[in-house]
Amino acid sequence: MLETVTTDMRTLHAVADLRHAVRGWRRSGLTVGLVPTMGALHDGHLSLVRAALRATDRVIVSIFVNPTQFDNPADLETYPRVMEADARLLADAGAHVLYAPTVAQMYPPGFATTVSVRGVSEGLCGAHRPGHFDGVATVVCKLFLQSQADAAFFGEKDFQQVHVVRRMAADLDIPTRVEACPTRREADGLAMSSRNRRLVGPGDRERAGALPATLDDAARAIAGGQPVGPVLAAARARLLAAGFGDVEYLEMRRAADLAPLAALNGQPARLLAAAWLAGVRLIDNVPVMPAGEDVRALP
Ligand code: PAF
Repeated sequence: MLETVTTDMRTLHAVADLRHAVRGWRRSGLTVGLVPTMGALHDGHLSLVRAALRATDRVIVSIFVNPTQFDNPADLETYPRVMEADARLLADAGAHVLYAPTVAQMYPPGFATTVSVRGVSEGLCGAHRPGHFDGVATVVCKLFLQSQADAAFFGEKDFQQVHVVRRMAADLDIPTRVEACPTRREADGLAMSSRNRRLVGPGDRERAGALPATLDDAARAIAGGQPVGPVLAAARARLLAAGFGDVEYLEMRRAADLAPLAALNGQPARLLAAAWLAGVRLIDNVPVMPAGEDVRALP
């Protein structure tokens, strides 16, 4: 199978080659980290690579634009694909293997298995993107089994995804540890995302900063004792006034299991939102802190 070398990093396309590399590392007593991605890498992804390099001896980064998690064919079609630039970033970051399987390798003819996680995948993004989390759980399950990684690193920007993947690994007795890493943000607070590069209309990128600002302010208001319902209604109105076309959801959930929460009641909570701006779907979430503490200060 094709194998290219970029500095010390190897690019592998076949699961047999990945397994061979992992077997070699294991024979030498090395631990293995996995950073699953769909490419179009930004500093959020690279921070996951850095976390993996700190925690494990050898780091695999997968790049696979997974068709089964796209509920919208146009979104799949236009998803940014910049493999050469990604490979250079990963080599510079010190990743050991870039694993880039093809769709035919991941889903060969006759493929018939879906991993479906109930509970935490329901509501929020799950309610608006039918089949999305089945696609995520299935591909991440395959990546865990293919890589046999000791730990896998995910960004908290996709807070619900972290819950789905953790549940999947626990339920299927897959020994890969799921590590959640803090969301990386631009200077104005916008969560880093491969989709941000689609915000190309005049003023769109600036308007996007209203999403984290609105969530931060709402989280502070709730932590300060204001009632959840009116605070969330005002936050929704603020996003629409800022130019967002649609707010799919803006909700408070219990951080531990994503159960809906109508009031804080002293439990660690999270505000989560998905909203459309100029045809781009943005998601974000922030912790709800006790009064007086800085929302951004949470680990
Ligand atoms: O977060 C993503 O980029 C994807 O959902 C993931 C985890 C790589 C699965 O395709």
